[in-house]
Amino acid sequence: MKKMMKIASIIGARPQLIKLAPLSKELRKYHKEIIIHTGQHYDKKMSGLFFKELDIPQPDYNLEVGSGSHGYQTGEMITRIEKVLIKEKPDLAIVYGDTNSTLSGALAAAKLNIKTAHVEAGLREFDKSIPEEINKIVSDHTSDILFCPSGLGVKNLAKEGITTKVYNVGDITLDLAKRISTNTNLEKSILKKYNLKKRDFCYMTMHREKNTGQKKRLSNIVSALENISKTIIFPMHPRTAKALKKYKLWGRINQIKSLKIVPPIGYQESIMLIKNAGKTITDSGGVIKESYFLKTPAVIIDDTTEWTETIEDGWNIIAGADKNKIIKYVNKAVKPKRHREVYGNGKSAQKIIRILNNYLSENQG
Ligand code: UD1
Repeated sequence: MKKMMKIASIIGARPQLIKLAPLSKELRKYHKEIIIHTGQHYDKKMSGLFFKELDIPQPDYNLEVGSGSHGYQTGEMITRIEKVLIKEKPDLAIVYGDTNSTLSGALAAAKLNIKTAHVEAGLREFDKSIPEEINKIVSDHTSDILFCPSGLGVKNLAKEGITTKVYNVGDITLDLAKRISTNTNLEKSILKKYNLKKRDFCYMTMHREKNTGQKKRLSNIVSALENISKTIIFPMHPRTAKALKKYKLWGRINQIKSLKIVPPIGYQESIMLIKNAGKTITDSGGVIKESYFLKTPAVIIDDTTEWTETIEDGWNIIAGADKNKIIKYVNKAVKPKRHREVYGNGKSAQKIIRILNNYLSENQG
C-alpha cells in the first residue's frame, strides 16, 4: 500500500456499531477513516453507549435522521449522506449489514461513482416482505467489493450473477464476540448483577417488524411467555415497547413473574448473557449467530433466517410466532453432536483490510 486513502464508514443502527468496532481499529492502521452516522438509532442506550463500550472513535458526522417511515428515513439519509460524500470525496465507502442506513449509504456512494465495499454481503432470507431483504439485495448489487460471512453468501451472490470481487472472510462479529466472551471477570460480575446461575435462565430479544407490527404474532409470543416457567431476561428494544403498548399487551407481559424486562443493554453484557443462558429466544440475526458462536441453542421467533448454517446441525430451531412451538422448543433439551466453524476464525477484520489494501493499490491513480 503506497498511499494512505480516505475511507468513509457509513453506519447508523446498533448492529453496525458491532461490525464497525473491529474493522475501524484495523483500518486506521493504514488509512484515514471518516465515520458517517446517519442517526437512525439515536437513543443513548441504542447508540452513544456502544461507542464508549466498544472504543469506537466518535463519528465525524451525525446526520440526525432519526425515525420515520422507510421512505422518509431512506430518502433523508441518501440526501444527507450525499452532501458529506461530495464534500469529503473518499476513495472508498464501506457499508455494513442490512439496515436502512446500509441501503442509503450504498445508494448515495454508487450514484456518486464512489467505490463501495459491503461487509456482511450475500445473505438472503428469500422473502421480499422483510425490509432488510430489500436492503441486502440492493446493497449487494450496487457494491463493488463484497465481503461474505460464510461460503453460503458467496453461493447466493453467484446465483444472482455477482461473481467478481466476492470474498468469504468469515463473520466480523465473531472477532469481537470471541474476545469478549473469554473475559471471566466480566462474566462473573454480570451473572452477579442479574443474580443468575449458568444455564439456568433464557435470554430473549425481539424487535423485528414482522413481530412488532402484527398484533396476532405479538400476542402469541406473549401467550408463550406466560406459559414458560424458566427465568427469562429480556432487554427490550424501544420499538417493541411501543408496539406492546399500542396493542394493549403491555399490562399482560409485565405481569409475567418469570420474565425480567430491562432497558436495552450493552454489547459485552449481551454476549455474556448469551454465553451463559440455557437457551436464547430471539428474532435478531445477530443474536441467532452469536448464540451459535457461543454454543447456546436458540429458539428463533421468526419464520425464516438468513443464518441457515446455525439450524443445520440442530443448534438453533425456527418456532415462528407459534405459541406451542415456542414453549416446546424452549423446554426441550438440545445436544447437537457437531459444531462447525462456518463463520471463520475471528480474524475477519484483518482479512478484509488485506483485501481492501490490495484493491486500493490496484486502483490507485
Ligand atoms: C433497525 C434495522 C434492523 C436491525 C435493528 C437493530 C432497518 C430496516 N432495520 O431496526 O435490521 O436489526 O435496527 O436494532 O433498518 N427507536 C427509538 N430509539 C432509537 C431507535 C429506534 O425509540 O434509538 C424506535 C422508534 O420508535 C422507531 C422504531 O424504534 O420508529 C424503529 O426504529 P428503526 O431504526 O426504524 O428500526 P429498528 O427496529 O431499530
